[in-house]
Amino acid sequence: MLYNLILTFYLNLTLLKTTSQTNNLTLIVAVSENNVIGKDNELVWRLKNDLKRFKELTSGHCIIMGRKTFESMPKALPNRKNIILTRNRSYQALDAFVAHTIEEALSLAADDPQPFIIGGGEIYSLFLPLADTLELTRVHGQFEADAFFPEINTQDWKLVAEEKHAASQDQDFSYSYLTYKKQVQ
Ligand SMILES: NC(=O)c1ccc[n+]([C@@H]2O[C@H](COP(=O)([O-])OP(=O)(O)OC[C@H]3O[C@@H](n4cnc5c(N)ncnc54)[C@H](OP(=O)(O)O)[C@@H]3O)[C@@H](O)[C@H]2O)c1
Repeated sequence: MLYNLILTFYLNLTLLKTTSQTNNLTLIVAVSENNVIGKDNELVWRLKNDLKRFKELTSGHCIIMGRKTFESMPKALPNRKNIILTRNRSYQALDAFVAHTIEEALSLAADDPQPFIIGGGEIYSLFLPLADTLELTRVHGQFEADAFFPEINTQDWKLVAEEKHAASQDQDFSYSYLTYKKQVQ
């Protein structure tokens, strides 16, 4: 009897914890000092180490992106659930899921404890208010472009990790990895 009571109490506690847990929605971006992210539907720099880090962080997770970003890549990124946002109801893509609203995209990623928003500009603006974490690579340079990252309200975000890297033979610019967590008001 006592054993059953303790077991029921423990099971209820576990259920409550699981259902109240929210996903750690993470925006991942490489952005210049003047908030540039891309031009003519391409990246404007090549930072090999940053691309390697992007792969490490996102592998095994859901990645949510705009239709233009998807079409800037040769194919869906492997070892990740690719989710594409478009308003086009007949859009289809190989090895990728298609969503037409924010809610649909998030529900496709509901089982992932850390889904990633991987761009581009329109999609970052849509999801910034919902994100819990920002993995931001600040590229130390100014560029001309047509795609931008939205302005961050620094009062909403706390810098929790910073790692600086100098330019080198195969990295044209210096850059910093910055991790921000959403401030709970
Ligand atoms: N530096 C980085 O880390 C990084 C990362 C990713 C991308 N980028 C760059 O960003 C640029 C692309 O960004 P972008 O802003 O032009 O395009 P995007 O955000 O990749 O995609 C825009 C498209 O998303 C769809 N969309 C937007 N809002 C929607 C909504 N509310 N509901 C449903 N679908 C919606 C629309 O697709 P439809 O037109 O099909 O309806 C829209 O045309 C490229 O230059 C790329 O290289 C940079």
